[in-house]
Amino acid sequence: MSIVDELDIQKLPTHIAIIMDGNGRWAKKQGKLRVFGHKNGVKAVREAVESAADLGIKYLTLYAFSTENWNRPKHEINALMKLFVSTINKETETLLKNNIRLSAIGNLSSLPTKAYKELKETMERTANNTRMQLNLALSYSSRWELTEAMKSIAEKVQKHELEPDSIDEGLLSRHLNTADMPDPELLIRTSGEYRISNFLLWQIAYAELYFTDKLWPDFEKEDLYRAIYAYQNRERRFGKTSEQINTG
Ligand code: FPP
Repeated sequence: MSIVDELDIQKLPTHIAIIMDGNGRWAKKQGKLRVFGHKNGVKAVREAVESAADLGIKYLTLYAFSTENWNRPKHEINALMKLFVSTINKETETLLKNNIRLSAIGNLSSLPTKAYKELKETMERTANNTRMQLNLALSYSSRWELTEAMKSIAEKVQKHELEPDSIDEGLLSRHLNTADMPDPELLIRTSGEYRISNFLLWQIAYAELYFTDKLWPDFEKEDLYRAIYAYQNRERRFGKTSEQINTG
């Protein structure tokens, strides 16, 4: 029996974000190079995308490459970029067939030209798809995103397009890369690490956090269902008391 039968389809999170971690350790455990782990991580990406779309999740954000990942050995960075290009290229038809829109957040102009072009082309080709939005965080860090938002707001104030008094939470949200997405209600991290690692710091203010020891290449559909099950069995209080929540 699968835990999917226990899920309440009326109470699904709209947006799930995942920190895919543990590819390197997964490869090392088998005496293989780290890149082997990343290649197998793509299979887990497919599982997550397919199961999320089948359930009816509307937004799935995957942390694929952080700003800090640029500090990895050059050969690993090159292999990862190549993998992004080939995966996006291979999967574009599947995304189109399944009505899935590809989007990306992060400092995309810092990506190698080939990766940027491939990504942009698939984003454009899938722009009208409506079943689910698959959002890749690439060369992304939350502090970078917030800094960019502050700069853009400051410029508008300087040009008198904006009054400082009109700056509120909504305005800041609209200046983030995720402006057109709801905040994630559920954040999953694999590989037994209990960190957020500069990911969606503003957007996860009220997200439920779910950690699993599974290394990313071993992450299967059932693991996503388990995370959603845990989410559905938590009480989301948003600062209120339990009594307030339960009496409406
Ligand atoms: C973290 O594991 C994983 C990454 C930095 C890369 C994730 C990329 C993929 C799974 C490929 C996905 C492709 C697309 C198109 C989305 P790690 O290397 O930090 O592992 P470790 O913590 O064990 O060293």
